[in-house]
Amino acid sequence: MVLERSELAENALQCLHDEAYDLPYNNQALNHQTMLFVEGREAESLNGSWNFCVDLLDTGLRQKWFALEKMDPIDRIEPYDYDPYMGEQVEVPSNWQMLKEKWYFFEGSAWYSRPLMIDKLSADERKFLRIGAAQYDCKIFLNGDFLGNHYGGSTPFCFELTGALREGENWLMLCVNNTRTTDRVPMRNTDWFNYGGLYREVALYTTPKTIIRDLYVALVADGTYSRIAVEVQVDGPARGDVEFSIPGLRLYASLTPNENGLAKAVLEASPELWSPDTPKLYDVVASIGDDEVRDRVGFRQIEQIGAELRLNGAPLFLRGISVHEDDFDTGKVTCENDIRRRFEHARELNCNFLRLAHYPHHELASKIADEMGFLLWEEIPVYWAIDFENPATYKDAQNQLIELIKRDRNRASVIIWSVGNENPDTDARLDFMRSLAQTAKAYDPTRLTSAACLINHAKKKIEDRLSDYIDVIGINEYYGWYEENFEDLVEIGINSAPDKPVVISETGADADISSTGPKAGLFSEAYQTHVYERQIETLRALDYVKGISPWILYDFRVERRQNMFQQGRNKKGLIAGDKQTKKEAFHKLAAFYAQKQQEQEACKNKNGK
Ligand code: GCU
Repeated sequence: MVLERSELAENALQCLHDEAYDLPYNNQALNHQTMLFVEGREAESLNGSWNFCVDLLDTGLRQKWFALEKMDPIDRIEPYDYDPYMGEQVEVPSNWQMLKEKWYFFEGSAWYSRPLMIDKLSADERKFLRIGAAQYDCKIFLNGDFLGNHYGGSTPFCFELTGALREGENWLMLCVNNTRTTDRVPMRNTDWFNYGGLYREVALYTTPKTIIRDLYVALVADGTYSRIAVEVQVDGPARGDVEFSIPGLRLYASLTPNENGLAKAVLEASPELWSPDTPKLYDVVASIGDDEVRDRVGFRQIEQIGAELRLNGAPLFLRGISVHEDDFDTGKVTCENDIRRRFEHARELNCNFLRLAHYPHHELASKIADEMGFLLWEEIPVYWAIDFENPATYKDAQNQLIELIKRDRNRASVIIWSVGNENPDTDARLDFMRSLAQTAKAYDPTRLTSAACLINHAKKKIEDRLSDYIDVIGINEYYGWYEENFEDLVEIGINSAPDKPVVISETGADADISSTGPKAGLFSEAYQTHVYERQIETLRALDYVKGISPWILYDFRVERRQNMFQQGRNKKGLIAGDKQTKKEAFHKLAAFYAQKQQEQEACKNKNGK
């Protein structure tokens, strides 16, 4: 049904005159409330070849490509501009920019479509579609019907297909749009590449009628280390109690859902505590009727007490490094090997901490961090200038934050939720981000909140009004690079007396170590090393600095860096973009962290904590 036929429209060209064509497809019906807890569930992967077509002018929504009937081209009786049932294919997951030179800077809508075969439908089963991430707006159509769309480029989203599927062949069509706009989160200007596409896994889940929609298990943060809080959200016809167990603790409990399907309990137990040195994980199992989910959970407590950070009651210093999710070959598509490599390099740096900047990374990252023993800062892309006055923008940011928290709040490695990065200190921003910090606490009272704030250069102090509403003050400072007078950092250190722990969430300098890189001055390896030496010397003297995550582990792709040394890359990596060639500053930081680790161990041996 193409709306260029006059009998189908008031006039033959209606679909070309309607600039509100996309409004009906922006209900954001896919959001944190439609998420499905998937740990331990069997997934039917929908990765692989999908039909694909870029669609710069949104002809697909205007002409309703999704409504075209499937038929042999020879049988078609009306003109059409794309047939979603055939044609060019791409692999999912992928970023289209990495697949063809002509798509490198493509920004707009792109159509992904594929058949979905359903052998038999049962009235006792439910079907859920889950997309690991799509950058940025993803509109879902099934058999010609619009189901809903999702905003947010880095969080998973689900949609129940029960009742919309038919036995035999169905057609799934997704319209993914990565256009940067002024009301998005992030907004249109970022210092990372604007990848687009279905770039994480797509899967179908089949469940019974009554399911466990969400499971949240955490040590009660009361300093006793002996109580485990369990929350289970049941969805569907009542099927009695939820059976919950942690076999490794010989813990078994029946939880009775309330009238809203929520079952909660606090159980007495004395788990071996999780920490980077002892990353102990326990299998947890929850079931109701025929539905069962499983997860692997570590039990630990993270606290901010005055200007101190404490992990399981012991003083903590975060020896960190910042990382993007970026690869010169695959773009934003990552995999287990890529993630493990990053943690191995962090281990070589003697890190116990990573800042996953500036958006939610693949869920494998926090699972592997749980297993290997790393602490994580996770963040939503409330980055630089955001439309802080816009309620729709706040709704988008808050939804992305809740989706991140619901996805990762069973992960012991995650200790900090960051609500943003380098935002201007205005009243509107303060309201916007204070509300986000409060949202984080509401969904997860066991973790700390933070944001990467800016130094008040006028007062030469660490001072940001948001710091009254977050637990950890993140500070991005680039003395020696963007800030010329390094002595100011010393003065700032003396002027500032924050009453909360400070984490230097970014510092660093570019270094081009290629054969055409400079031998001295800005962008040289020697200059980067010099900046790290001075930063380390200055920061180690500030006792309220409880962590550092320099910018950044690897060089990464970005459009806005185009000088002869950068050529479309940000070169602040301690390792080059090949993810193997270390720069001299890598070793400087590793040595500092090794010393810091020894100091911490000596202190622990002396004080027994
Ligand atoms: C900023 C920003 C980063 C950016 C970095 C840089 O602090 O937070 O996203 O890449 O500085 O300029 O390299």
